[in-house]
Parts: sequence; C-alpha cells; structure tokens
Amino acid sequence: MKEFISGTKIVCGPGAVQALKDANAKKLLVVTDPFFAKNGTAQRIAEAAGAEQVQIFDKVAPDPSVMLVAEGTAEVKEFCPDVIVALGGGSAMDCAKAMLHFAGGQIRLVAIPTTSGSGSEVTDFAILTHKKVKHPLIDSRLRPELAILDDELVAGLPPSLVADGGFDVLSHALEAYVAQNATPFTDAFAKDAFCCAFGALPASFAGKTEVRGKVHIAATMAGMAFTQAGLGVCHALSHSLGGMFHVPHGRLNAILLPGVVGLNATAAGEKYAKLARAAGLGGSVDTIAVRNLKNGLIRLRRELKLPETLAQAGVDPREVWHRSGEIVDAALKDPCCRTNPVQVEDFMLRQILEEVTGRV
Ligand SMILES: NC(=O)c1ccc[n+]([C@@H]2O[C@H](COP(=O)([O-])OP(=O)(O)OC[C@H]3O[C@@H](n4cnc5c(N)ncnc54)[C@H](O)[C@@H]3O)[C@@H](O)[C@H]2O)c1
Ligand SMILES: [Fe+2]
Repeated sequence: MKEFISGTKIVCGPGAVQALKDANAKKLLVVTDPFFAKNGTAQRIAEAAGAEQVQIFDKVAPDPSVMLVAEGTAEVKEFCPDVIVALGGGSAMDCAKAMLHFAGGQIRLVAIPTTSGSGSEVTDFAILTHKKVKHPLIDSRLRPELAILDDELVAGLPPSLVADGGFDVLSHALEAYVAQNATPFTDAFAKDAFCCAFGALPASFAGKTEVRGKVHIAATMAGMAFTQAGLGVCHALSHSLGGMFHVPHGRLNAILLPGVVGLNATAAGEKYAKLARAAGLGGSVDTIAVRNLKNGLIRLRRELKLPETLAQAGVDPREVWHRSGEIVDAALKDPCCRTNPVQVEDFMLRQILEEVTGRV
C-alpha cells in the first residue's frame, strides 16, 4: 500500500510574501539569520504579517546546532508566539522547526525560503548538528502549514549559493526518484523538479533572474518528492561529511552525486535512464543513458564552478583518511541509507569516499 500526503499550502510568485497576512498572526516570532535582520528583510516580512507583537530571533548560523535550537526554544517558551515564520535557507527553516518541536504547544509554522535548495518548507525533516554529527529529526508535525515562494527573495542570490542549492535540488529529485518508497506521485514531482533545475541552473547561475522563480518551485517540488519517497546514500554521506567538515550541504552533494549514480545503477538503471531522457540527455540503450546522466551531472558541476573532490572543497584528505571509519559509521546510521535503491554496505561507502577525497 502506498500513500501521498501534502499538507502544506504553497503560495508562489513575485510579491507572494503578502500572503503572510492570511496567517492572522497575533504574536509573531521571525526565525532568521543575521543577514536578513541586518538588511531589513526580516522587519519587512514582519510588517507584511500585520501582527500585534513581533519578535525576531536572528541568531541562526549554517547547519544549526542543538545548542542554538535550545536557545531558540527558550525564547519561544518565553514569548509564546501563535505563529513562527522561518525566513532563510534550510538552516533557518530547520532551526525554526526544531524550536517549535521542542517548545511544544499549538504554534503554526510558515516557511519562507530564501535559497532554492533544501525544500525544508514542505518536508517532515529538520537536520540538527551535535558534536560534529548531523541528526535528522523526522516528524510529520515539522511540516510547515504554509510555504511562501517569493521570487523576489531569490533574485539577489549570489552564484555560489545558486550552485550549492541547485545541486541540493538535483540530489533530492534524483535520490527520491529511485528511492525505496517512491510512488507514481513522488516520481512526477521528482522528475519534473530534476528536469526543470537541470535545464535552468546554468542561466540562474549566470544571473538571469527571470529563471530563478522556476528553480525555486523545483526546489519545493523536489522536497515534496523526497519527504515521502526518502533519499539515499548521497544524503547519508553528505550528512556525515557535513557534520564533520562543515562544507555546505549542496556542495557535498555535488561532489558525491555522480559517483552515487554509478553505484546504484545496478538496481536503478532503468529509472536513471528514464530521467536522463526526460532531461534531454538522450541514450537509446539504458546503460548509455545512465552514463549520459552521470556525465551530464559532472558537466553541470563544472559549469557551476563547484568542486569535484573534498580536497578542492578545502577538506584535508589526510583528515578524511584518518576519520574514514567515523564517516562511514555515521553514514550507515543515517536514515537515508534505508531508502537507497541498493542495500548499503560498508565497502560501498568506502569506495565512494575514496573516489571523492582527492589529493593532498
Ligand atoms: N529539512 C530538510 O528537509 C533539509 C533538506 C536538505 C538540506 N537541509 C539542511 O539545510 C541546510 C542548508 O540549507 P541552505 O543550502 O538553504 O543554506 P543555509 O540556510 O545554510 O544558508 C547558507 C548561507 O546563505 C545565506 N543566504 C540565504 N539566503 C540568502 C539570500 N537570498 N541572499 C544571500 N544570502 C543568503 C545565509 O545567510 C547563509 O549564510 C543544511 O544544514 C542542510 O542539512 C535540510
Ligand atoms: Fe539535501
């Protein structure tokens, strides 16, 4: 038996933040990072909500820690908001989700993503970091009630964030498409998200803001797919490496994804081939289409000026060799392994790690 649930109302397009009024907030807490507090966006969003009382928690840092969430949870308990607005990338949204989870009560959550990447605005996940390990918190109550996708908030994204987020979208879509819990519904979202992001990312990276709305929607669609279908070994390793070395999440996925396609092709070759053809990469025979998919990802990664190895991303290969046991153990424990199309074994993770480490 399979099911598909999507409980988040989505409002999109330029000026979509105006939909915040419909949340009828009385006491509003905005959870964001210092960047959006300093440039006035957090205040502008708060005004759009028209709440009687507003407080801004602006301490979010990339890959939110359990300590940060504890500090934020204390603020939620003291202020007692009826609505929390998460404004920012995956880190701000995950931090807000976790604060709400640990504070308890009946607080409503609105997510306003400012990167096109994590899809956290529609997922049941919040990724928290504790002692250099990333822990996914998974609960359907973490899914925001409302997601606002406003093109204007991603118009000014710097190219490096377009690239990092873009490869997060591609990896969500690609992993969800072949995941153990995929359904025809998640397949439709995953395939469309992949094709849209794959086609539009070069223009978005080059600064063509008119395509950014498309990629923004693709990010949310990929989130809708993976929150139901699950992810795979790319995310398991990305979480493990991200906790340890603090490299941006999407950048790690870009390094890992082509190798993961090679690894899973034995079980997922037919679906990879379908995806390759849908994305215009061709290949009349499945094995050729899978190769085209892998090479297409490598070409796009180069075009978006992303690193090919951990060494190029600033991680010392000696550290990776030294800590490979810890990296593999953490990845094996990650719930994303459970939905990978091929059963994940220790040696497979070591093989991918070896491929992506790079040279001193
Ligand atoms: N919950 C989920 O379902 C899920 C899924 C995938 C990833 N994640 C998590 O999300 C996090 C990554 O999120 P992310 O890639 O969105 O990055 P991020 O939220 O960590 O933000 C990265 C940087 O971008 C800046 N930034 C954000 N929006 C900007 C804008 N419009 N203009 C200029 N700067 C901007 C932020 O200030 C920050 O410094 C990771 O911790 C990852 O584990 C969560
Ligand atoms: Fe991700």
